[in-house]
Amino acid sequence: MSHEIKISASLACADLLNLERDIHLLENVGIDLLHIDIMDGVFVPNYCLNIDIMRAIKEITAIPMECHLMINDPERYVERIAGAGCQYLSVHYEATPHIQRVLSLIRRYGMKAGIALNPATSVEVLDYITDDIDMVTLMMINPGFAGQALILSMIRKIADTKRFLDMRGKGFIDILVDGNVSISNIPSMVEAGATILVGGSSSVFRKHYSIEESVTLVKSLY
Ligand code: DX5
Ligand code: ZN
Repeated sequence: MSHEIKISASLACADLLNLERDIHLLENVGIDLLHIDIMDGVFVPNYCLNIDIMRAIKEITAIPMECHLMINDPERYVERIAGAGCQYLSVHYEATPHIQRVLSLIRRYGMKAGIALNPATSVEVLDYITDDIDMVTLMMINPGFAGQALILSMIRKIADTKRFLDMRGKGFIDILVDGNVSISNIPSMVEAGATILVGGSSSVFRKHYSIEESVTLVKSLY
């Protein structure tokens, strides 16, 4: 099953004082998705974007939003995130004892359901829920902060996830990679099976390069 590779711009890495400007620049270069990181300071030791910002983004662009929810007990916010106009919602396997119930709830509110895995979490946890997911979000770094370095074993994890899904006839499920999806790491991530690239501080929003230059370069890498 071959996928068209998509780029999801991590807005946490945009110029937060000029977010509307950056979103329109992303529109001009044909970005596929907007990656919205939401954190609770507990599941990860940081805060980031939020539901009100998503609502405001919805007013100014038609680019679909895919939310990466790094909070404990994510079921509490599914309805509000859907109400803010989000099209994809990834929740962490490690953040709730009832992951299958949360994934069903996400779909019930009309969003595509993603499951996010921390670096040490095995792909085997997907075994009984491949019918409940539309995408797998693989963390290439420990979640909570941009600008970290790739954990090298994550390239093997991408390949393991692709093989795991293909063996179950689920090769159509997207594999989103998040964290240090850099100009130098992208080729091996795509080669291993990544289908959605979260472009953050090491690709789409690199210092000293325009968004147009960076996205054009990213698109040339696969
Ligand atoms: C980290 C976030 C990532 C991050 C990516 O917790 O989930 O989306 O913003 O930033 P880079 O690409 O710089 O690692
Ligand atoms: Zn993220």
